[in-house]
Amino acid sequence: MSIYLDRDHLKGFVEQKDIEKISKHIEKAHQDLESKAGAGAEYTGWCDLPSRVEDSFIAELEQLGRDVRNDSDCIVSIGIGGSYLGIRAVEEFLRGTELPIFYAGLNMSADYHHNLLKKLEGRKPTVVVISKSGTTTEPAIAFRIIKNFLKDKFSEAELKSRVICVTDQSKGALRKVADQNGYRSYVIPDDVGGRFSVLTPVGLVPLALAGADIRGLIEGARAGEKIYSQFNLDENISYLYAATRYLLYKKGKVIEVTASFYDNLFYVLEWWKQLYGESEAKDGKGIFPSSLILSTDLHSMGQLMQDGVRNVFETFVDIKQPDHTLEIPMEDEDLDGFNIVAGKDLDYVNTQAHIATASAHFDGKVPNMTISLCKGDAYHLGQLFYFYERAVAISGYLLGVNPFNQPGVEAYKKKMFALLGKA
Ligand code: PA5
Repeated sequence: MSIYLDRDHLKGFVEQKDIEKISKHIEKAHQDLESKAGAGAEYTGWCDLPSRVEDSFIAELEQLGRDVRNDSDCIVSIGIGGSYLGIRAVEEFLRGTELPIFYAGLNMSADYHHNLLKKLEGRKPTVVVISKSGTTTEPAIAFRIIKNFLKDKFSEAELKSRVICVTDQSKGALRKVADQNGYRSYVIPDDVGGRFSVLTPVGLVPLALAGADIRGLIEGARAGEKIYSQFNLDENISYLYAATRYLLYKKGKVIEVTASFYDNLFYVLEWWKQLYGESEAKDGKGIFPSSLILSTDLHSMGQLMQDGVRNVFETFVDIKQPDHTLEIPMEDEDLDGFNIVAGKDLDYVNTQAHIATASAHFDGKVPNMTISLCKGDAYHLGQLFYFYERAVAISGYLLGVNPFNQPGVEAYKKKMFALLGKA
């Protein structure tokens, strides 16, 4: 196993016997998911997606990536929500890719896109437009703007070769745009919803073009699929995580703060927030997902975590073996008093900060757990993606909601379209 779950700081809140008491419910949720008898079963194609992704498809994308990188110096990824966050999560977790990725269509700010166009000046981008529905306002408008910007810079034929669409097989405006203009396109499977789609062409295409390790990502997710699709409450830590948070919720802990002492997890946690917020929060139920990056947020949110309303639980995400070590230097005059750690690795101090924070927050009545990844590479991230996906499906079923729809997201769109005069 390369991901671990530490549940030491749950004593008095959730004990093993509490998990055993609901084991029948967890088993039912598991069976409903496996047999496709549960709510939203038509969107559970992500369950066996890692093992269904063909190695030949990975090789095809790796080759496409090499070809694109020969003739492009950046990738522009246009998309929002599930068609954006997973890509950025991988890129930032890996601390960058061979080609930089610029993001468009994640908002409708003129200033943001103006600055983006300035950054693209003089560059040779390959543009990936991603939209499952093919009708989302933000990426559709951003695509217009980017196309318009590039049309003076490249011939029609070259512009065409620089655009790749990732969308539905037959539905939506983006499918029409791709087919009518002859853009290269990749299909998002019907049975995988936006927030579960990072391991489909949604994530794999832009990441492969940028040179990220998509093979490692898929191999990690395959390992996750093997472990986390088993109903075995001694070993399946994804189910234990789901059950624990459900029990905490039942005790009034309605906010989950996922916190990490590793800054490269910032967008992984943004991805996690979408996955959990959109999947669980409906019918007046659900845990509010929130995130912190530490130490920095300890100096802004630490007071709230230690002493605020006690409706919060915390899940740390840790990387056991970071890529680098950095020795803390000795100083002759020791004015700051930190020669006590001179000669030690900086991450040693980071680890002590984690241990101290988890203990202090527990003392402050914030139950907490820690998910530890052995390493911060694509393999472990792929496994973590699957861990989280599987857990949210189970916890959604435990809550009695359909974890695979998002009816609430439509409300603002209807009002916005009315204001814009769009039918
Ligand atoms: O989870 C979801 O379905 C949404 O957040 C979508 O990912 C987001 O709205 C983008 O949708 P689309 O890919 O259809 O443009």
